[in-house]
Amino acid sequence: MVLLDQVVEDAKRDFEAAADSAALEDAKARYLGKSGVLTEQLKSLGALEPEARKAAGAQINQAKAAVEAALTARRQALASAALQAKLSAEAIDITLPGRGQGVGSLHPVMRTWERVEQIFRSIGFDVADGPEIENDWFNFTALNSPQNHPARSMQDTFYVEGHDEQGQALLLRTHTSPMQVRYASAHVARYAKEASMPPIKVIAPGRTYRVDSDATHSPMFNQVEGLWIADQVSFADLKGVYVDFLRTFFETDDIQVRFRPSYFPFTEPSAEIDMAFASGKLAGRWLEISGAGQVHPQVLKNMGLDPERYIGFAFGSGLERLTMLRYGVDDLRLFFENDIRFLAQFGA
Ligand code: PHE
Repeated sequence: MVLLDQVVEDAKRDFEAAADSAALEDAKARYLGKSGVLTEQLKSLGALEPEARKAAGAQINQAKAAVEAALTARRQALASAALQAKLSAEAIDITLPGRGQGVGSLHPVMRTWERVEQIFRSIGFDVADGPEIENDWFNFTALNSPQNHPARSMQDTFYVEGHDEQGQALLLRTHTSPMQVRYASAHVARYAKEASMPPIKVIAPGRTYRVDSDATHSPMFNQVEGLWIADQVSFADLKGVYVDFLRTFFETDDIQVRFRPSYFPFTEPSAEIDMAFASGKLAGRWLEISGAGQVHPQVLKNMGLDPERYIGFAFGSGLERLTMLRYGVDDLRLFFENDIRFLAQFGA
């Protein structure tokens, strides 16, 4: 008679060695199958005496139970290993960011643009829009910079091929000042048959172009033009409006403003508006923020206005410059690179 203990040991070892369930079932057949070792043992019981058969039968059944227990344990181990393998093969990496749709936000310069419009509307200014491809008359001549005037070279620009219906050369506007003449002449025409003309109070924000490119100049940039014409307005009014605008825009009264004499062909006298913050990292540094001045009599004539009767003030400020000062950005080019990491900082 085979040693039953040895049979149980062999079965356990074979079951452990089975790498998958097919190999395990093969191993099971060798012990518990139709002609397996233990089955053969049971068959041989018939040849024994009743007493011996009883004792041997009990031993064989014990061995069989042990082998079956080992088999069940190994089956479970293989099944759970297979499940683990499947789970890790199908694992989802939940640490990856989702493919959700990002929410966009306004470009910082557009935020300034909208803010400037809102502030000037609140004090009764109209908001006007004009062409970026301008003609020579509105961009230069009507603004008192005739052909060959040296002031034209201050604003080198990009010319567009061809001419408009009036035979005027076409160019990308170098400033928003052409809107002074466009808006004022339209206003004059509109009230031509009326007994009196309401004051002209307008801002015109928009894109402008120059052959200029460094950390503080871009070939494309945005300006906002301001124009105020009536029978009685003075430099004090311009100063009051502009200083009030700066205080509202920067949300502080701690701003110093100075008007420095300057030159523009279309204003006389002309000034450069400088500002300085009283506190913060830019404290005490004078920064040029705008050109301004009293509208030149020749420009008033070009608008169809009588310079003896009307007086006006204009300013032109850079929207990028205002944005840089408001948010502490030191390189203008950042506004045009469109790096999401930069732009996202202004999302509200
Ligand atoms: N157009 C001028 C510029 O671009 C600014 C300006 C506007 C100056 C209005 C005076 C009056 O530099």
